[in-house]
Amino acid sequence: MSQSSGKDTPSRERSISLISSGRLRHIAFIMDGNGRWAAKRGLPRKVGHRYGAAAFKEIVRYCGDIGIKYVTVYAFSTENWGRPGDEVESIIKLLGDYMDECEKTASRDSLRMRFIGDLSAFGEAFVERAAKLEAATAHYSHGLNIALGYGGRDEIVRACRKLAERGEEITEEAIGANLDTAGIPDPDLIVRTAGEKRLSNFLMWQSAYSEFYFTDTLWPDMKPHDIDLAVEEFFGRKRRYGKV
Ligand code: IPE
Ligand code: IPE
Ligand code: MG
Repeated sequence: MSQSSGKDTPSRERSISLISSGRLRHIAFIMDGNGRWAAKRGLPRKVGHRYGAAAFKEIVRYCGDIGIKYVTVYAFSTENWGRPGDEVESIIKLLGDYMDECEKTASRDSLRMRFIGDLSAFGEAFVERAAKLEAATAHYSHGLNIALGYGGRDEIVRACRKLAERGEEITEEAIGANLDTAGIPDPDLIVRTAGEKRLSNFLMWQSAYSEFYFTDTLWPDMKPHDIDLAVEEFFGRKRRYGKV
């Protein structure tokens, strides 16, 4: 068992204790830098995505272990459809492999899976599999939301369209309740790796009062200790929500 060397040293134990306050329920990750990780090693981008997938599994598991109730990951954006076909294919293949694994993983880690985004372009079989996985894990305690074919603007447009079609009044509550994330609390913390400091169309509505944490670490290099650093930084922030 690792022991933290000082009271305020980021560590697993310290993260668990901070998170037990209930103030950090939901972390969302913009998993960026897979391509650069591969390029640095002279490897094809798809290898970066493979190592990125391994990091994703480790980080999701760690977040659950330290008491994070909801994790959302940005795995594929609406804009990512514009990447070369073989790269898109390699990402879809990794997602399929992960879904295969999920039956085991989800029960071991108590993961309640939810896919957010427009899955239709992934094909009917994929949509069905995703729905099955959501249904099969609906009773688990730790929310894992995977953003696929996801764009914040697209999500808001789809929500508003649903309201308009039903002739319902457009209010903040009604929009929130018709987003793909309905029922999930807004992210308290959004982590973006690989040095970019932008949202890239992620959770635009839900991030209104999220804290942001940026690290230069490339996603495949992310380790549990990097999460401890982000948690420490989060608990040093003052969230005012516009008040004094
Ligand atoms: C993030 O890594 C994964 C996806 C967007 C699917 P990138 O593939 O964007 O990696 P970089 O930004 O090119 O390094
Ligand atoms: C955001 O990363 C999307 C995902 C992490 C899935 P991108 O690499 O696509 O974003 P930009 O192009 O740098 O803004
Ligand atoms: Mg990128």
